[in-house]
Amino acid sequence: MTGGGELLPATVILGASRGIGRSIAKIAARDVATVVLVARSEAHLEAVAEEIRSAGGRAVVFPIDLASRDASKQLESFLAEYGLFCDVLVNNAGYGLRGAATLLPIADQLGMIDLNIRTLADFTLRFSPGMARRGRGGVINLGSVASFLAGPNMAVYYASKSFVRSFSAALSQELRATGVTVTCVAPGPTATDFLDSSGAGRATLFKILPKLSADYVAEQAWRGFRSGRRLVVPGVSAKVLIVIATVLPNSLLLPLVSRLQRRKSDLCPCGSGETSAKCKCSSLRS
Ligand SMILES: NC(=O)c1ccc[n+]([C@@H]2O[C@H](COP(=O)([O-])OP(=O)(O)OC[C@H]3O[C@@H](n4cnc5c(N)ncnc54)[C@H](OP(=O)(O)O)[C@@H]3O)[C@@H](O)[C@H]2O)c1
Repeated sequence: MTGGGELLPATVILGASRGIGRSIAKIAARDVATVVLVARSEAHLEAVAEEIRSAGGRAVVFPIDLASRDASKQLESFLAEYGLFCDVLVNNAGYGLRGAATLLPIADQLGMIDLNIRTLADFTLRFSPGMARRGRGGVINLGSVASFLAGPNMAVYYASKSFVRSFSAALSQELRATGVTVTCVAPGPTATDFLDSSGAGRATLFKILPKLSADYVAEQAWRGFRSGRRLVVPGVSAKVLIVIATVLPNSLLLPLVSRLQRRKSDLCPCGSGETSAKCKCSSLRS
C-alpha cells in the first residue's frame, strides 16, 4: 500500500485464476509494471501471483465474486488503496452452459448474462473514461468464435458473446482518437476447464474441432492488443469457422449447430421428458 502521491499503472485481469486469464496474466506481467489478478478462488490467484513474482514480475491479488453488483467499485477502491490506476483492463471472466434454453435453469442462464455481459460492461464503463482522459491504455474483451453466429443448445452463451463483439467494436471506434485500444479476442475451442464446466466438451462440435492452448490464445490476445488491433482471432481453425458461419445461410447453419451441440441423452426441449434420441416431436426433425 502507498501513503499517497502519484498513482501507478496496473493491468487488471478478471478471471486470472486459471485458463486463458491466467495465461494472459503471466504474459502481461513480462511487459507491464503491475498486474492485478481478480477471480473468486484466492488460493489459485495466490499461486499465479507467486509464479509471476518468481519470474521477476509484480502481482497483487483481489479475490471477489465478479457477479456482485458493486464489484467494479470495490476494485476501484482497492486500486486507489494500493496507489494504482487501471491502465489496461482484461475482461476475461465468463462461463458457458450447454443445453436447451427451455430446460436449463433460468437463474444459471441469467447469471451468464450477468457475468459475460453486465460485469464486462460495468468494468469497461467504469475504467475506460479514465483511460480516455489519460490518452493511454485499453481494454481486452474475451469474445469467442461463438459471437459470429447463433448457437442453438448454447443460446445464451453465444448471444452473450455477440454482445461482447458488438460492444467492443463500437467502443474501439469511439475511443480511437484518444489513443485507447479496445480489442475483442475471438478464440475457438481452447483447452481449459471451460469445456468441462460448460458441458460443451461433451458435444460433438467441440469433440471434432481442434483445441487451442490457453497460452497460445493469450499470446495472440496480448500481441494483438499491443499492436492496436480491434479483433484478434487466434488460430487458423477459428478463422475458417468464422468464414463458414458468415457464408452459410441460417437455414443450414442453425440446424447444423443445433445437431452438433446436442447429445442423444439430452432431454428434448419440447418438454416431453423423452431424450432427444427417442422423442418424435417436430423440433428435432429440423
Ligand atoms: N475455453 C474456450 O473454449 C473458450 C473459447 C472462446 C472463448 N472463451 C472465453 O474465454 C474466457 C475465459 O475462459 P476460460 O476457457 O479460460 O475459462 P475457465 O478456465 O473456466 O476460467 C474462467 C475464469 O473466470 C473466473 N470466474 C468465473 N466466474 C467468476 C465470478 N463469478 N467471479 C470472478 N471470477 C469468475 C474463474 O475464476 P474463479 O472460478 O476462481 O472465480 C476463472 O479464472 C471466457 O470469457 C470464455 O467465455 C473460452
